[in-house]
Amino acid sequence: MRKLIAGTGWKMNIGADATARYAARVTPLVDGFGDDIEMFVLPPFTSLHVARQAFSSSAVGIGGQNVHWDSSGAWTGEISAAMLAEAGCRYVELAHSERLEHFGETYDLVRRKVNAAIDAGLTPILCLGETAEDRQRGRADKVLEAQMTLALADQTAAQLSAIILAYEPRWAIGASAAASPDYAAERHRNLRNAVGARFGADAAAGVRIIYGGSVTSGNGAALMERIEIDGLFVGRAAWSPDGFADIAAIVARAANWRKPR
Ligand code: PGA
Repeated sequence: MRKLIAGTGWKMNIGADATARYAARVTPLVDGFGDDIEMFVLPPFTSLHVARQAFSSSAVGIGGQNVHWDSSGAWTGEISAAMLAEAGCRYVELAHSERLEHFGETYDLVRRKVNAAIDAGLTPILCLGETAEDRQRGRADKVLEAQMTLALADQTAAQLSAIILAYEPRWAIGASAAASPDYAAERHRNLRNAVGARFGADAAAGVRIIYGGSVTSGNGAALMERIEIDGLFVGRAAWSPDGFADIAAIVARAANWRKPR
């Protein structure tokens, strides 16, 4: 069975002091879920040091929001995968729509970042998502498949278990509503089939595909009713510790009812 995931990307929010407060508040609320689900927070770089300490005794893992593809060198302003690992990161988020839209990242660049992350032992959280126009033209699945194929071009089936795919429709990020459970589940199903066609049935059955884009404690349960969805990846609704705890509780409930009996 795939272990379900509750994660949050903090974007450019929650500095070091606030990170300590967040961790102190959230840890007792979520640690009971640690056996059943995987949890992560992705703080800004300058909060990672505090996050490592503050979450050290908790079930919540930490990760970076971006990484450079090279291992070291003259790359002013950049951070390497080894640096993230040294800072206590287990994860790194790649290809978030804000990186694509505002910083000109492409999936070919993302491919190199995936390679760097895997080499450093980090779990890439690879975002995939169609634009509103792609959706209107009925080509969402084609776009997701192309993004996945390009970003994972250098990976083998064995490495798929070390990667988390995050389906994040670009029109649903920072928006007023999430994708409907039906729409999201269909994308997840088709994306998993595309993984199967490229990497084989075992890789497809094992890879976790989580949903992100305007998830809240109000719509999260309906999304998690769909077995195609392996977890929730949350922005705004989890920038407060209580918000993250609510999302983790929803995912933990889903993990419980999905357990084979
Ligand atoms: P949101 O952000 O939950 O605030 O829409 C999601 C994301 O950016 O991954």
